[in-house]
Amino acid sequence: MAITKLAVVGSGTMGHGIGQLAAMQGIAVRVFDVDEVALDRARASVATSLERFVRKETITDAQSHEIQGRMDWTTDLDAALVGVEAAIEAVPEVLALKQKVFTDLDERTGPEVMLATNTSQLSITTIASSAKHPERVVGMHFFNPPVVMRLVEIIRGTMTSDEMLQRAIDFSDQLGKENIVCQRDTPGFITTRAIMALRLECIRIFEEGIASKEDLDKAMRLAFNHPMGQFELNDYNGLDIALQGARNLREAYGDRFAPPPSLVSRVAAGQLGRKTGAGWFEYPDTQK
Ligand code: 3HC
Repeated sequence: MAITKLAVVGSGTMGHGIGQLAAMQGIAVRVFDVDEVALDRARASVATSLERFVRKETITDAQSHEIQGRMDWTTDLDAALVGVEAAIEAVPEVLALKQKVFTDLDERTGPEVMLATNTSQLSITTIASSAKHPERVVGMHFFNPPVVMRLVEIIRGTMTSDEMLQRAIDFSDQLGKENIVCQRDTPGFITTRAIMALRLECIRIFEEGIASKEDLDKAMRLAFNHPMGQFELNDYNGLDIALQGARNLREAYGDRFAPPPSLVSRVAAGQLGRKTGAGWFEYPDTQK
């Protein structure tokens, strides 16, 4: 069953990116956020991203307008959920917040509606436990920027039904993505656990004075063909996200995921990466 109407809960980087991706595949999308200002920012980011596709002639200007016309932005959750076949949550990585969202989604939609979380590391089972129908909750972890990155990591919670897992796989196919399935709901799943190990080790090599951030990034790009080094990628995604991730993984796997002091101090100083104008590197052009 193809999805024709989708609700996205949370309009941050991942939320509006997932919404844009779905709208580009012809799906009617409603993006919900509690914050009007965040919705305005998200709408502008989608317009900017679509302009890039128009400039490359991947889509026409008329198509860009059609895609934007398929996206509604609202602070009314009930309105966002009318008639949807699926809802994806992309709010900050705070367990209590996500649980509250899933209680709300569960109360406001029929049991046939697929409820997906874009968490990169938190337990799908624990998030789903706040819903009366936890069997319809599944992990669909997208990568930034969702309109460009080719993978969706699908996670089966302990209570996820076979039907909902298959629907998540079908939905990722509909979005034109490749997928991998994490069969056991473990912290960090496959991708966050692996990338975080690499990122923290790069930061430690820097802290030990063995190499500069620039050389470590160059090593990742040229030795391994990664499109970005770990420091520039961390600036792109947010140091606060990485710190929260390291803390969660440390709780699960021990000190190998202990957050390095230079990451902790940058976050404490509000140096969160591109979005704040400074992180591991400086971004003087960022509008704060
Ligand atoms: N919208 C539209 N198009 C975009 C875009 C956007 N937001 N961002 C990039 N693009 C397009 C560009 O137009 C360009 O297209 P072209 O090759 O057809 O001309 C292409 O993507 C490459 O972009 P750029 O030339 O500007 O720059 P790069 O070559 O550096 O690519 C990048 C940008 C795609 C972000 C690339 O650097 C990259 O893949 N970086 C790694 C990203 C990554 O690892 N993401 C995953 C992070 S982990 C995560 O997200 C998990 C989460 O839970 C935190």
